[in-house]
Amino acid sequence: PQKAVAAMAQQAPSSLEALNALIAASPAFVAGGTRAVLGEGPLHPRLALVGEQPGDQEDEEGRPFVGPAGQLLMKAMAEAGLSREAVYLTNAVKHFKFVPRGTRRLHQKPTASEVKHYRWWLEKELDFVRPRLVVALGGTAALALTGKALAVTRERGPRQLGAHAGYLTVHPSYLLRLPEESARNAAYAAFVGDLAAAKALAE
Ligand code: URA
Repeated sequence: PQKAVAAMAQQAPSSLEALNALIAASPAFVAGGTRAVLGEGPLHPRLALVGEQPGDQEDEEGRPFVGPAGQLLMKAMAEAGLSREAVYLTNAVKHFKFVPRGTRRLHQKPTASEVKHYRWWLEKELDFVRPRLVVALGGTAALALTGKALAVTRERGPRQLGAHAGYLTVHPSYLLRLPEESARNAAYAAFVGDLAAAKALAE
């Protein structure tokens, strides 16, 4: 299988399906991940949203943004006038990186070099998907798209992200982690505002 994977990698995939088959057949570059969670959504959408990596539930179900962060993202998208079906959803890293802790699987942030391993796939994917605007959800997505570490809270907003017209905002799990309710509500409202602004830019 290693040989087969290497041979496939040398052939530039000619469609999103071919790329996805290649990703699904390749070993994870991060510890843990049991399967690749592929991007999902229409070709040539107004928006593509790029997250960090699948979490526990995404790994179980094999679909992006179905766990707690995904549910919060769907709520915020709905408030911004966006439906799940209208946007393309994917991740910078295609496997769930975790360490086992008892019966739980604890999410581990991917390193910069792990993110770089996955960049080729993400760029190919976006070449096929061709969104009008790419929304980076958090620093890992921004790193994957630009090759550079960006300070999300200072640099959020519309900006070029590598080859893409883009918009940088926070990751929804950042909102889930804010301990203080009024700060969390304000950050959530700003996130909804970012999604609405990105939608308007892509119209
Ligand atoms: N967080 C992400 O970045 N991506 C997912 O798919 C789920 C949670």
